[in-house]
This record gives sequence, C-alpha cells and structure tokens, in this order.
Amino acid sequence: MTDLPPTRWESADNTGFASHFTELIRTGADIEGEARLADALLPRGATVLDAGAGFGRVGAALQARGHHVVAAEKDPDLVAMAAEHYPDLAVVRSDILALTPDLLREAGHPTSYDLVVLVGNVMVLLAPDTERRVLATVRDLLADGGRILVGFHPVDGPADSARDYPIEEFVADAESVGLRLQHRFGSYDLTPASDDYLVAVLVHG
Ligand SMILES: C[S@@+](CC[C@H](N)C(=O)[O-])C[C@H]1O[C@@H](n2cnc3c(N)ncnc32)[C@H](O)[C@@H]1O
Repeated sequence: MTDLPPTRWESADNTGFASHFTELIRTGADIEGEARLADALLPRGATVLDAGAGFGRVGAALQARGHHVVAAEKDPDLVAMAAEHYPDLAVVRSDILALTPDLLREAGHPTSYDLVVLVGNVMVLLAPDTERRVLATVRDLLADGGRILVGFHPVDGPADSARDYPIEEFVADAESVGLRLQHRFGSYDLTPASDDYLVAVLVHG
C-alpha cells in the first residue's frame, strides 16, 4: 500500500472513534441504522462489500442478516478491532483504491457485489483528490443491478481532517464515472433530503 496516498483519516488523530463506539456497544446503543437501510436494498443472501469498514460494525450487522459480507479497511488498528469484535467477519486490509477483482479473488472473496457500502463519512475521509477514483473502483466491483450506498456529512464532518464535500460536487463526481443518483435522503431513516447529511444510493448510469 506504499504507493497509495495517505487518507484524510490517516492524517488525523482518530483515537476517539474507537473509544466512542466501544462505549456505544457497552451501553447497548443502536449502531445498526446504516445496516438496516442497506438490508432493505438487498435480496436475501446478497453479496456486500463494506468499503472503509472501520471496525466492521455495518458489515457485521449485514452478515448477521444473512448476507455474504467482505469488509475492506486500511487502518491496521481498526482491522485489529474488527477481529476482536467480529471474529467471523471477513476483513481485507486494503485501501479501497487497491481493491481489484484479482486481489479479492486471490483472497477467496467474490469479485462482484450486489451492494457496496460507503457509509460513516468514508467519502470525506479519503485521500485528497481520490474521490472519483474510489467511486470508479467500487463501480467496477458491482454485480449486474448492483448499487452503492453512501453516507456522509457534506460540511463540518465529525473528524477535523474531514473535507467539505458539497452534494452537487459529489453527484458530479459520481456522474463523471458513469454512476447515477437513484435515491437521496437526509438520514438512514429516510427523512427528506437535507444539506446536513447525505444518504445516497448510486447505480450504473
Ligand atoms: C469514520 S470511519 C467509518 C468506518 C465505518 N464505515 C463505519 O461507519 O463505522 C471512516 C473510515 O474510512 C476509512 N477510509 C478512508 N479512506 C479509505 C481508503 N482509501 N481505503 C480504505 N479505507 C478508507 C478509514 O480508514 C476509516 O476506517
């Protein structure tokens, strides 16, 4: 992974993320909202790629619902945390940009997916100027009729290192790589579209 640019996530102090979610899990808080919406987008027993999976909370919740999930995460600390919390979850330690069908095949995983999940502000924590390449990379991993579920704060993201990413710019970036906005909401509960948070479903254009 040495030839890939550092992500905004890697460039910041993110120690609070793990402790925040550890506390949410300890108190039994709901951390499955994204997974419930993802599940509603899928047939039963579907293939799911959780891209930028963190410690795998969304992928694990989808696996618990019967889907075949592969989680991809670059941060070694979060990969280790995933193994601790969800030992049955398949995790590939990789930059999203390096996720090719060959890499996935060699790791024993599907090479195409019914849904790619890019939630939890992954899109505003990528390496600078890699948004289109990341979208093109996951586009190439979609099965026929496959979709991409994206969620992020367009402004004032939770991490200091998060970029502002106007929704119009994101939609233009998606369209530039042959993807089309199929649905837009303001939350995973399907509240109306808002400027504060974007939940988007992308499909091949
Ligand atoms: C705020 S965390 C969210 C994690 C997870 N999606 C969730 O919702 O719990 C953002 C994640 O995006 C990952 N990320 C950002 N750019 C990435 C890239 N190019 N390749 C792989 N992971 C990336 C970070 O490593 C980090 O785990």
